[in-house]
Amino acid sequence: MGQMKAVVYDEYCSPDGLELRAVERPVIGDDAVLVRVMAASVNPVDWHRLTGTPSIARLEAGLRSPKRHIPGSDLAGRVEAIGSAVAGFKPGDEVFGTAEGSLAEYVAVTEDRIAHKPVNLSIEQAAVVPVAGLTALQGLRDCARLEAGQRVLINGASGGVGTFAVQIAKAFGAEVTGVCSGGNVEMVRAIGADDVVDYTATDFEEREQHYDVLFDTVGNRRLSTCRRTLKPKGVYVMVGGPRTNRWLGPVARVVAGRLLFALTSEKFSTFVAKDDEDDLRFLRDLLESGSVVPVIDRRYDLSDTQQAFQYWERGRTSGKILVTV
Ligand SMILES: NC(=O)c1ccc[n+]([C@@H]2O[C@H](COP(=O)([O-])OP(=O)(O)OC[C@H]3O[C@@H](n4cnc5c(N)ncnc54)[C@H](OP(=O)(O)O)[C@@H]3O)[C@@H](O)[C@H]2O)c1
Repeated sequence: MGQMKAVVYDEYCSPDGLELRAVERPVIGDDAVLVRVMAASVNPVDWHRLTGTPSIARLEAGLRSPKRHIPGSDLAGRVEAIGSAVAGFKPGDEVFGTAEGSLAEYVAVTEDRIAHKPVNLSIEQAAVVPVAGLTALQGLRDCARLEAGQRVLINGASGGVGTFAVQIAKAFGAEVTGVCSGGNVEMVRAIGADDVVDYTATDFEEREQHYDVLFDTVGNRRLSTCRRTLKPKGVYVMVGGPRTNRWLGPVARVVAGRLLFALTSEKFSTFVAKDDEDDLRFLRDLLESGSVVPVIDRRYDLSDTQQAFQYWERGRTSGKILVTV
């Protein structure tokens, strides 16, 4: 058993409480894979688990103190060792996928959470895909049941999830309108949006356009306004909500949404993205065909993970934040 470097927190804290430390390297069981992490990314879920906010997040993250001490939830890297029951991978394979505690040199993961890295992507590009890509895919395909020819509005089109959602919706044959700030309009157009609304100049509901799907990663508009922008039987997919409610966070909006949409033909849908090896492979096909290209905003070294989280906290990320290990 050796040691490794990892980013660590002992109690719920802000990003400045993160420290780079030597900790025990994980030991793998028969069904696990030990991955030498080469790159990872920052996701909102890591921040919620680190800070323990909103309070309701502690039901999952640990009531009094955090259950996990190393942040990170997705990765790309090389297989270092495999358990005796692992059939799909061998040492040396390049992989990407999801794993708690990926902001470290090594992580242990079951084989159903990783897939071979897309051949045309660098390790860095692959590392930013899993959480945001799975969220965009599952939200559009499973919640919205998006079909070719439908019209979808993506609120937060320039963010981590949004940049994947724009490209996946286009790959599904939808007509895509993205909403972002002025500085990101060109980028959102470049990744395939047919139309882009700069929310600093126009509110999307002023467009008088109606959509089959409103895929909302921001949750900043009133739910009644969102409902009015949908076509009859359209679907509002709540991906994320505002960080304003200290106790309940987005849960307050879920309750309000279920009530508001209860008696209407439009639907309210929300979900928590799942780790799924078939979906990772589905994403890999989209990446290898060139239909989806990861957008990386900034890169940080593992030793600068504090700054990576602090940058994310500003809420202005265009695409994903990469952390190289
Ligand atoms: N349901 C799930 O399983 C799941 C999974 C992953 C994430 N999420 C949630 O999804 C949300 C988005 O995650 P993410 O990783 O995409 O976050 P992110 O990358 O941090 O999102 C940042 C983006 O938000 C945009 N934004 C901020 N204010 C906006 C506004 N008023 N209108 C339109 N866009 C605005 C920014 O665009 P500009 O800079 O152009 O303003 C920026 O590009 C989070 O709430 C997260 O918790 C949910």
